[in-house]
Amino acid sequence: MALIAGIITLSFRAEKAPANNYPTLPKDSAGSAKAFMSVYKVLMSPRCMNCHPSGNAPLQGDDSHIHTMNVTRGVDGKGIYSERCSNCHQAENAAGLHMPPGNPKWGLPPANMRMVFQGRTPRQLALQLLDPKQNGGRTKAQLIDHMANDDLVGWAWHPGDGRTLPPMSRPAFAAQVRLWIAKGAYAPSAKTK
Ligand code: HEC
Ligand code: HEC
Repeated sequence: MALIAGIITLSFRAEKAPANNYPTLPKDSAGSAKAFMSVYKVLMSPRCMNCHPSGNAPLQGDDSHIHTMNVTRGVDGKGIYSERCSNCHQAENAAGLHMPPGNPKWGLPPANMRMVFQGRTPRQLALQLLDPKQNGGRTKAQLIDHMANDDLVGWAWHPGDGRTLPPMSRPAFAAQVRLWIAKGAYAPSAKTK
């Protein structure tokens, strides 16, 4: 029993720390770009986009309106002065409609690496996600790992009362991310909307 548990832990760790390992398939620009379009639908859904806004305020709700109370990013993404995210956002979702959602890492990307999704075309966003200078220094393997396993990304699939879920399950999303990259990590053409 202990041995089996050990093996499971090991393989789980191996998946958690992929330096440069990612699945590869024969290059297929059309198939890769098609998979990215599924990924894009999730990235642009309110649960992801609300924390990846084009401005310095987070967005709220399924209509992605500007966060009330003049909340802003600040240098580290966790707000300024009395409006630190953690003043209202706890480690867990607070129960009830319009209550603050929660996660221990709650915040926006920092001011020096804003990771904007809002307003990006599929091509722009694909190129941005693949660029270590704009994606937090991630390799392709680490990008897959973040989308498939990161706990803050995972919040989007248990977002608290009254918030809609992304348009596909997390495993289906992770599978499309892997397919996009395995087939060559192509960006959709500039004409794809
Ligand atoms: C509560 C805010 C929040 C939510 C919700 C959120 N993110 Fe993020 N995201 C962040 C922060 C903060 C970072 C930067 C931290 C880091 O680099 O690990 C980040 C970084 C990322 C990155 C790596 C950088 C990049 O842009 O390439 C990806 C990819 C990403 N998020 C995808 C998602 C996806 C997919 C969802 C929805 C399923 C999502 N995020 C929801 C706050 C959020
Ligand atoms: C004064 C309290 C307060 C502060 C400070 C605050 N928030 Fe919020 N936030 C809320 C409340 C309340 C909600 C829920 C609003 C609702 O559902 O109508 C919310 C909702 C959100 C949402 C919407 C989630 C979704 O997908 O609909 C995001 C994103 C968010 N906050 C990010 C932040 C970030 C990032 C910070 C810090 C930079 C921050 N908030 C600071 C109170 C606060």
